[in-house]
Amino acid sequence: MPASTLLDLLKESSPRHLDELVQWLKIPSVSSDTSHHQDVQQAAKWVADKFQNAGLSPEILPTEGHPMVFAQTPEVDGAPIVLVYGHYDVQPVEPLDEWISGPFEPTVRDGNLYARGATDDKGQVLTHIQSVCDWLATGQPLPLQVKFLIEGEEEVGSENLERMLPELRERLACDCVVISDSGQYAQGQPAITYGLRGIATYELQVDGPSQDLHSGSFGGAVMNPAIAVCHLLSSMVDNQGRIQINGFYDQVRDLSDSEREQWRRLPQDDQQFAGAIGVEKLFGESGYTTDERRWARPTFDVNGLTSGHQGEGVKTIIPATASAKFSFRLVPDQDPKKLTAMLEQHLQDHAPIGVRWSLKPSHGAPGMLADTDSRFVHAANSAIESAFGVKPVLIREGGSIPIVTRFQEVLECDCLLLGWGLSDDNAHSPNEKFRVEDYHRGIRASAILWDEIGNLP
Ligand code: BES
Ligand code: MN
Ligand code: MN
Repeated sequence: MPASTLLDLLKESSPRHLDELVQWLKIPSVSSDTSHHQDVQQAAKWVADKFQNAGLSPEILPTEGHPMVFAQTPEVDGAPIVLVYGHYDVQPVEPLDEWISGPFEPTVRDGNLYARGATDDKGQVLTHIQSVCDWLATGQPLPLQVKFLIEGEEEVGSENLERMLPELRERLACDCVVISDSGQYAQGQPAITYGLRGIATYELQVDGPSQDLHSGSFGGAVMNPAIAVCHLLSSMVDNQGRIQINGFYDQVRDLSDSEREQWRRLPQDDQQFAGAIGVEKLFGESGYTTDERRWARPTFDVNGLTSGHQGEGVKTIIPATASAKFSFRLVPDQDPKKLTAMLEQHLQDHAPIGVRWSLKPSHGAPGMLADTDSRFVHAANSAIESAFGVKPVLIREGGSIPIVTRFQEVLECDCLLLGWGLSDDNAHSPNEKFRVEDYHRGIRASAILWDEIGNLP
């Protein structure tokens, strides 16, 4: 089909595209919260119905957790197979009072659609679903086969998908996985992402006395679990952000000079970056630029801290327990399992006497690198340039998509990360948004991508 015909059609359908995204966003599919169990099921059903209405025969694949939705267009002899992966689950919405409009009451303001999941990932993955469904509605065949796997547990680590991947190998077989669950480099500067950091997350629990104690009567006599947690956390990192765990940097793959050189050509403005997130100065490991630190250096972060009196006023106690949730971002060649062993050793070496500690590892995924010169990257280059009017730049990103390296290994496929989001989209934060224009451009880029890939030699 002439690309221009399809693009005209997409343009006419843009109010419906937006309306459908709004419908999906109204479903509060928070995967980590058991009270949203029904909503998660409903969000899966919403996307299955969308495929059904386009004449595909979607399957809702049950898992031990939340279901996945699979759909595929007809096979095309001799043409590549692409697997679109994305997630319909979303992060929790707290703190609720910071949202200008409700997280599940999608609202357009200043050209942005605000709602939890707008950019991460319903809005982004829907671009590919819309382009395929609209193409099929023309009655013309697609020039390639597109498969879809939309899961409901990405935000909780994709463990069920990982477990099931070997048995899904045949069904998901493809030449390239296409994922839109990341960002552009900046507004008006689209990007192709060829690297992501990995992740390892933990919960540390420290127990002291059998109940909270009066800090006057007992202070000086026992170790305070809250102080023990503070000591342990601060022992893990120096004031430059260098991680202090023995062996931590042994497997870290260094940045190549040519990669650093390429990144230095990207427009970077630390002052503006700092201003946009409300800090005076940026912080991090010395000797690296901000993009280098965010994309290709490992980091340690405390995600949550709990202990003692949180209510109004003063309460002079030694809390009985304290706990922390923390995470490491990993880079290629670091192994989350090896990190857990190193971390246990570190805690053993540093734990103060008089308290007991326990460590619970939760999500772990290695960092990822994709080929920057594949035929799919070339196809994506032209598709993005046509839709956005600007050539994309090649970048890495600091976030993690736990299943991507498993796709590379098990499906032995190429990988294309085409992010339509922006770094100020507030993913995981209050007032998450997605630029309406980027949603529509994403749909156009996706449609052109199918054409480009279908025409590959
Ligand atoms: N879409 C993000 C991953 C991402 C963020 C890619 C920023 C590129 C740039 C994804 O939904 C996500 O948030 N992943 C989690 C994984 C974790 C919960 C195991 C993450 O990175 O924290
Ligand atoms: Mn995501
Ligand atoms: Mn996310």
